[in-house]
Amino acid sequence: MCGIIGAIAHANVVPVLLEGLLRLEYRGYDSAGLVVTNHGLQRVRTTGRVTELSKLVAQQRAQGLAGIAHTRWATHGEPSERNAHPHFSGEISRIAVVHNGIIENHEAIRSHLINKGFKFSSDTDTEVIAHLIAFNLEQVTDLFQAVCLSIAELQGAYAIAVMEEAHPERIVVARNGAPLLLGIGKSGNYVASDTSALLQTTRDIIYLEEGDVAELSSRGYRIVNCLRNHLGEAVERAVHESHLSNEAIGLGPYAHFMQKEIFEQPSAVANTLEMVFNAQSISPNLFGSEAEEIFSSINHILILACGTSYHAGLVARYWLETVAGLPCNVEIASEYRYRNPVTDPNTLVIGISQSGETADTLAALNYAKKLGHQYSLAICNVPESALIRQTDLRFLTRAGPEIGVASTKAFTTQLASLLLLTVTLAKMRHKLSSEDEQRMIASLRHLPVALQHALQVEPQVRIWAKRFAQKRHALFLGRGVHYPIAMEGALKLKEISYIHAEAYAAGELKHGPLALVDSEMPVVAIAPNDQLLGKLKSNLQEVHARGGELYVFADADSHITQGENLHVIRLAEHAGLLSPILHTIPLQLLAYHVALERGTDVDKPRNLAKAVTVE
Ligand code: G6P
Repeated sequence: MCGIIGAIAHANVVPVLLEGLLRLEYRGYDSAGLVVTNHGLQRVRTTGRVTELSKLVAQQRAQGLAGIAHTRWATHGEPSERNAHPHFSGEISRIAVVHNGIIENHEAIRSHLINKGFKFSSDTDTEVIAHLIAFNLEQVTDLFQAVCLSIAELQGAYAIAVMEEAHPERIVVARNGAPLLLGIGKSGNYVASDTSALLQTTRDIIYLEEGDVAELSSRGYRIVNCLRNHLGEAVERAVHESHLSNEAIGLGPYAHFMQKEIFEQPSAVANTLEMVFNAQSISPNLFGSEAEEIFSSINHILILACGTSYHAGLVARYWLETVAGLPCNVEIASEYRYRNPVTDPNTLVIGISQSGETADTLAALNYAKKLGHQYSLAICNVPESALIRQTDLRFLTRAGPEIGVASTKAFTTQLASLLLLTVTLAKMRHKLSSEDEQRMIASLRHLPVALQHALQVEPQVRIWAKRFAQKRHALFLGRGVHYPIAMEGALKLKEISYIHAEAYAAGELKHGPLALVDSEMPVVAIAPNDQLLGKLKSNLQEVHARGGELYVFADADSHITQGENLHVIRLAEHAGLLSPILHTIPLQLLAYHVALERGTDVDKPRNLAKAVTVE
């Protein structure tokens, strides 16, 4: 999704802006642009990739001591050069704006500004901000005040960076609902929507808060909270040292980030569970210092999440109910935030998110709090994210940066964390004997090795992928705790190969999808040797009898025999409770290899974004 980088320094900032945009590429975008101060504001925009922008920048000799840059993921107006950021207002002393998020009242402001004589040259809500600031700049003395006045009129979630042609010595930025960070450097100051874009220059980071407006110059910065403090008094914001590793963001020997991230899963899970490996028993403190007290007060769990993280929640429900005996609801965040659910204050609300910046998940969590839920826990992969800062308790999935838009290692580390939570709660609720606890610790210790074994099915999956690549549709079946894994497998396939894929609880087959089954519809089944295997086999018979082609992911002892139209890949071991984590691996590999066969953009699938920071 859209990304912002801005820089003001003692030397040409163009290399910093371009490198920043490259670092933001993983979020997904359809156009890119920048503005630099070069005897006025020089703007370069393209609907191509950042490398294309770099070429244009070189051709047009764009350079300057200050600049703002942006990757755009279209929300208002088609992806086109005229809709790409930065947007301008004014002809004599121009204003340039880049913006992440959505301005909800843009239509009302647009008509007001048109009546005042402003001319619009794009379909974006961002251009409204540029003209509004230009309009307000006529009423006040400087850009900083004009931005403060303007954000008071804006509704929605946004982060902006603004420059003024007449005053190239400063950049003004503002945040409300979308993340924005300042990078405090030795030879300049920077702003970005994501830490990864800043690490090239500095590790000293300030997280702006809602309503903050900041002014950056090459020598310093000041921050005012315009929503709370209309007098414009400066506020203090702590400078944090970022520990994100730079190498973790590189591709290494892999062809794609998704491939790298699939193969990183054994170490990602090992990092996530590290504290358990050295422990004799599992302690609630892993989730925060207040965890013991909060966990003993709850009698219900509510999980809020989107996309792949939502699927992790669905798996956790089976674990929490079966092992910890806790009732659990799992809700799609964008649905929950607009419902009127019945609340129970003794509920632990869990937000699951790789990025910790997903707008719907953050809003759903806030809504749950407003409804009276008093306890919250974040399961999140980004220590410096909004979600982590909003909850009472937190557990970090230590997967490292996930760059591929389609989530892989974040998912399996979320599952590992949720299993750990289940065991913790089960123990506190006296549902787990100490022998069971020891057995669980042993299984968790073994998990990275089991994942390594699961990755070894890749050559067999590659053969299947060649057949799948010719198909237009696929059906994924699972039962029980493996039903959400089927959902995740279908999601992976559609995200990156663009093959239409649907997941069904296998028992639902007869209630509709069986009508679709023919030789052109491959049916993937997740068939580990669990208590539902017998039932699943009957469902597979139903497919087989109708000429459907079955692709079954089984365990070593699932007793399903390969035959005509029945292909089987076996994982080396059945992992009991951990089985859904292992069965995720071949499905990720299948999606990856099908996408390779079809030649799609694996890491940046069309129309999708990594961090969905707008509603
Ligand atoms: C986007 C990503 C998905 C991700 C979802 C939720 O759609 O492309 O991979 O699962 O957002 O993101 P989160 O960061 O909250 O887990």
